[in-house]
Amino acid sequence: MDPVLCQMLVLGMAVMMARACPKYCACQNLSESLGTLCPAKGLLFVPPDIDRSTVELRLGGNYILRITQQDFANMTDLVDLTLSRNTISYIQPFSFGDLETLRSLHMDNNRLVELGPDDLRGLVSLQHLILNNNQLGRISEKAFEDLAASLEDLDLSYNNLQALPWHSVRQMINLHQLSLDHNLLDYIPEGTFVDLERLARLDLTSNRLQKLPPDPIFARAQDSEVMTTSFAPQLSLGIGGNPLHCNCELLWFRRLERDDDLETCASPPGLKGRYFWNVREDEFLCEQPLITQHTHRMLVLEGQTASLRCEAIGDPTPTIHWVTPDDRLLGNSSRTVVYHNGTLEILITTSKDYGTFTCIAANLAGESTASVELSIIQLPHISNGTGQASQPKSRPYNLFFLSFSFFPLV
Ligand SMILES: *[C@@H]1O[C@H](CO)[C@@H](O)[C@H](O)[C@H]1NC(C)=O
Ligand SMILES: *[C@@H]1O[C@H](CO)[C@@H](O)[C@H](O)[C@H]1NC(C)=O
Ligand SMILES: *[C@@H]1O[C@H](CO)[C@@H](O)[C@H](O)[C@H]1NC(C)=O
Ligand SMILES: *[C@@H]1O[C@H](CO)[C@@H](O)[C@H](O)[C@H]1NC(C)=O
Ligand SMILES: *[C@@H]1O[C@H](CO)[C@@H](O)[C@H](O)[C@H]1NC(C)=O
Repeated sequence: MDPVLCQMLVLGMAVMMARACPKYCACQNLSESLGTLCPAKGLLFVPPDIDRSTVELRLGGNYILRITQQDFANMTDLVDLTLSRNTISYIQPFSFGDLETLRSLHMDNNRLVELGPDDLRGLVSLQHLILNNNQLGRISEKAFEDLAASLEDLDLSYNNLQALPWHSVRQMINLHQLSLDHNLLDYIPEGTFVDLERLARLDLTSNRLQKLPPDPIFARAQDSEVMTTSFAPQLSLGIGGNPLHCNCELLWFRRLERDDDLETCASPPGLKGRYFWNVREDEFLCEQPLITQHTHRMLVLEGQTASLRCEAIGDPTPTIHWVTPDDRLLGNSSRTVVYHNGTLEILITTSKDYGTFTCIAANLAGESTASVELSIIQLPHISNGTGQASQPKSRPYNLFFLSFSFFPLV
């Protein structure tokens, strides 16, 4: 071969190596930062030959199915990553582990159903996380751990989320926008937004929320700008399309001065379908608990399970508490279970469990109580020589004790 031609070939290859750019992709080396653009090229996976020093990487509109640990390994300069409109249903844990400078991750319009604890591990500088239009039903409690403090924009709209790792949301103190609309959220814990002072947009439209936890930030969701500063901006809040339960718990919200947002009441029955802002403040009512059913007295043999019922109605739904004859509040323990329906179970009764138990039904509007008399029939203690059954520890036991007189006494 002609030595000159040969040299040119070698030179040409060297140039091609330096400008390595995956087939079908376009690479721009502008102002010393490399961008790799592979949008809508029919890719089935992330090309393995992407220059590891790339700063921007666009892979939107392809058919990528999964993200693996090799895909973005060593891309420590990457700032912007777009994976929108693919068919990604799986992220291998730690796949983004080297992307410590990544600021923006777009993965909207994919098929993610779940985010595991380490799927987003290592994204310590991430500001924009865009995950709308997936099928997310579950997000691990730990998924947002590494990025909570840096995140400014989180978009999870149009998914199937019933819950979020709310304690992580609470730590997102730099958040400006939080889009949670079009999900299945039915509960937001109180205190979630307390520290999100920079939040300017919160979209909760079209979920299953019956109420909204009162929070100081909602003072900024009013028309007047009294409560807003440049640091704490006005808050644009979307809450329409939720089945709001218009009782006294939402009165605080009714008192805000807001532009109409098409909110309607779904309950209580008397307010169903009413336009929220047309319901008068004095119609936002709660109802004191009323105990409808409870055990009046019960006799059990020592060692057996005592199941004490107590049911109450009220608005909001009352919670039931139990107090022992010696005034201790009962909770779940190795010996007792308090069920949500109000039933108290004493799993293995002892001779000391007799007396008057009190069931307390409580809600915002008040409380009401009922007494339950528990009597224990003690078993004869065989090993204690005398062979005599002790007297039952109870007051109204006589009749019952007679009916049990067939019990074999030793
Ligand atoms: C891009 O440009 C920088 C400096 O201008 C250079 O060091 C680097 O090798 C170039 N990268 C590619 C892939 O051409
Ligand atoms: C990343 O860098 C390490 C160490 O330099 C190297 O062993 C590994 O092969 C690289 N991985 C990729 C996918 O480039
Ligand atoms: C007590 O245990 C029951 C049954 O395991 C459970 O349903 C209930 O939530 C528990 N109550 C509390 C207060 O943890
Ligand atoms: C309350 O719930 C427990 C556990 O689910 C059940 O065993 C009990 O029968 C229930 N009691 C009533 C009164 O519904
Ligand atoms: C026997 O009687 C004593 C005192 O009356 C009591 O402390 C002990 O628990 C009894 N033993 C058994 C096996 O019941």
